[in-house]
Amino acid sequence: MKIMVSKHAGYCYGVKRAIRILDEVVASTANQDEKIYTLGPIIHNEQVTTLYKSKGVTIINAIEDMTGQNGLSNKIVIRSHGAPKSVYDQIQDINAEIFDATCPYVKKIQNTVSTHASIGYNIIIVGDGNHPEVVGINGWCDNQAIVVKSVDAAQKIKPMIGPVCVVAQTTFNINVWNEIVVVLKEKFENCVIHNTICLATNQRQTACRELASQVDLMIVIGGKHSSNTLKLASICKEIVNTIHIETKDDLDLSILSGNEVIGITAGASTPDWIIDSVILKIENEGEVFFDGKS
Ligand code: F3S
Repeated sequence: MKIMVSKHAGYCYGVKRAIRILDEVVASTANQDEKIYTLGPIIHNEQVTTLYKSKGVTIINAIEDMTGQNGLSNKIVIRSHGAPKSVYDQIQDINAEIFDATCPYVKKIQNTVSTHASIGYNIIIVGDGNHPEVVGINGWCDNQAIVVKSVDAAQKIKPMIGPVCVVAQTTFNINVWNEIVVVLKEKFENCVIHNTICLATNQRQTACRELASQVDLMIVIGGKHSSNTLKLASICKEIVNTIHIETKDDLDLSILSGNEVIGITAGASTPDWIIDSVILKIENEGEVFFDGKS
């Protein structure tokens, strides 16, 4: 049996950076009275959030949920998805210490919508309106953006007075984005398009597509609620027999029998140690030739 690992798999730049920032906060918090919070899970990976829980990190869903005393004894980490401007204002009001792990690519989108909204542009965000990244971006233009995620929804946007600025959720599907852009360009004469889809997403999707066409079975590793992992799994399923697992414990080795070449990919929020432990479990099963990155 041969194992091939996708050349783009696992943590992306923004997630690595967010984890590094949280690690630094944990390492610099020796005082028991100091509390560390993340606004939402630092990444969509239960094993990682459980690990940080054991290190004293508490996940909250709103700033009001901080239970520590006001002031600098509270440390709050903003995850890579970013947060609305109102959250920064709230944190400042309670004088907590903020550690901003917003991915620089997301920060750039927030700045783009903020700048354009301030000079009279209408903002359209192409993405999922319920995703925290999109909620955060919208919060930098007073929640006035129109959010669409389908060609149909784009076609239904009513005429608007003034210029239009379009941005994308970083993990949005590039093909649907291209179709929506055609509709918006036709609809609005004065329309500035910013393709803000992250290269990391594209690379992971392209690499897993390529790998899936070379193997007998794909294993996609990542959180069951991680949208980018689910997307990788759905791409692979269109090409080859695919299983989606969170950890090595979900892997039933009997499913591998009869498959000569196994492909492995992982979502942007899957740490290397989880990927490695899956590979090790397969290797321990018998004659395996590990091909590293495909
Ligand atoms: Fe940032 Fe792209 Fe990752 S936007 S968080 S590097 S998927």
